[in-house]
Amino acid sequence: MRSELQTKLAQPLQIGTVTLHSRVFQSPLAGVTDRVFRRLVRRYAPHSLTYTEMVSASGLHYARELPRVMEVDPDEAPIAIQLFDCRPDFLAEAAERAVAEGAQIVDINMGCPVNKITKNGGGSSLLRQPEVAAQIVRQVVARSPVPVTVKTRLGWSEQEITILDFARRMEDAGAQAITIHGRTRAQGFNGRPGGTGFAG
Ligand SMILES: Cc1cc2nc3c(=O)[nH]c(=O)nc-3n(C[C@H](O)[C@H](O)[C@H](O)COP(=O)(O)O)c2cc1C
Repeated sequence: MRSELQTKLAQPLQIGTVTLHSRVFQSPLAGVTDRVFRRLVRRYAPHSLTYTEMVSASGLHYARELPRVMEVDPDEAPIAIQLFDCRPDFLAEAAERAVAEGAQIVDINMGCPVNKITKNGGGSSLLRQPEVAAQIVRQVVARSPVPVTVKTRLGWSEQEITILDFARRMEDAGAQAITIHGRTRAQGFNGRPGGTGFAG
């Protein structure tokens, strides 16, 4: 007999207009989640939601050619293209390109801890700029015909666990889902997820 949880997990999951028939989400991994990798993931989890690695909206604005990491096979669904930047206008423009390439969801990276990204105002530094983050979501939502989602972290550091307020702001701005990497920016990719300072 199925438990209540099993029955619930067997139901489709709705992200805005997109219906997901699997609870498997293959997280975006720079240098890993290319077309070949995604094909392998789908072999074992056919209906899983996959992501491209993050793509720079500024890079896209100035590039003549589409970066290879943004290429999507015609039969790839459901797939999210992940974008990062601090400029709402470039991100909105990049979202239109992502949809034209076949994205069913546009995901905005607000969690990358790497200095190269945060010093330019992208990734997890947006946790410290919630107004800019909300403006980004509002502008991308206004130009995107598909659901817009956000991936972020618990907060900047153990002393700055801001996810509850941040998530509400993103939801109010129009984000249809939020994925949380359960570490702080200060933790990078190591250490126990969950953080001892999380009280909510
Ligand atoms: C090599 C590597 C590349 C990653 N690239 C991205 C990325 O492009 N976008 C993103 O949102 N997260 C990225 N992440 C974070 C992962 O998607 C995931 O949220 C994180 O690793 C937490 O899961 P774990 O505790 O199982 O490692 C990356 C992580 C690793 C290790």
